[in-house]
Amino acid sequence: KDRGKLRIQDNLDDLATELVEYIAELSEVSVKERGVFAIALSGGSLIGLMGKLCQAPYNKTVDWAKWHIFWVDERVVSKSHTDSNYKLAKDSLLSKVPVAPSHIHSINDSLSAEDAATDYEFALRQMVKARTVGVSQLNDCPKFDLILLGMGPDGHVASLFPNHIALEERDEWVTFLTDSPKPPPERITFTLPVINSASNVAVVVTGGSKAEALRMAIDDVEPDTPLLPARMVQPTTGNLVWFLDNPAASKLEAF
Ligand code: 6PG
Repeated sequence: KDRGKLRIQDNLDDLATELVEYIAELSEVSVKERGVFAIALSGGSLIGLMGKLCQAPYNKTVDWAKWHIFWVDERVVSKSHTDSNYKLAKDSLLSKVPVAPSHIHSINDSLSAEDAATDYEFALRQMVKARTVGVSQLNDCPKFDLILLGMGPDGHVASLFPNHIALEERDEWVTFLTDSPKPPPERITFTLPVINSASNVAVVVTGGSKAEALRMAIDDVEPDTPLLPARMVQPTTGNLVWFLDNPAASKLEAF
């Protein structure tokens, strides 16, 4: 099985440059082809690496008016809480670029985890009906132009954790957890069918603490190796790209 393309840099500054160049290019292609760019963000260090998007030339060249921003996963906390993935993106990115507030599709923070997941899936269905988000011909899933993921040292992506039942969800687009092994416990997350229906999926992984999980996610491994969530990221027809720094990539065969 093709595990995607590797883009490895030896410092974070070059990695950030390569990442924003990639995002800007996909934005241009999507706007040309569909008139919009539907992008889904994760939380974590990836957001800091996207910071150059707020600087020249991207602050001027990117067609911000055409962006629609979603969240791959979100913690069920208020939007002003330090744990909120929305707040992280808002403070370091979205407050610095001219994306229309109506194009920022954040999670309703006044609901329970279960209701927030239902509500977010409903909102996503409206966006797919309107073709703001594309649709997969194979399974009617949303087909995001770009889904951006991080990966934890345990191999989790989005809020899909190793051995968690949420990994098995095949029908829902958005599911919820009340027992996340990484705090906070209550979260909502896109399911694997949604992630794997995207046109482009990028996983951004840095630091030596993730080298072993990355090897298990990408390389040919012994048959009894636990199947990590990151290895289950396998876009059906879309492209998969890994943005890595040297320490994260250090245990890969290709390194
Ligand atoms: C979350 C994040 C999560 C993140 C990874 C990697 O809600 O926990 O969205 O999925 O992307 O944990 O985070 P770092 O890059 O900060 O290690």
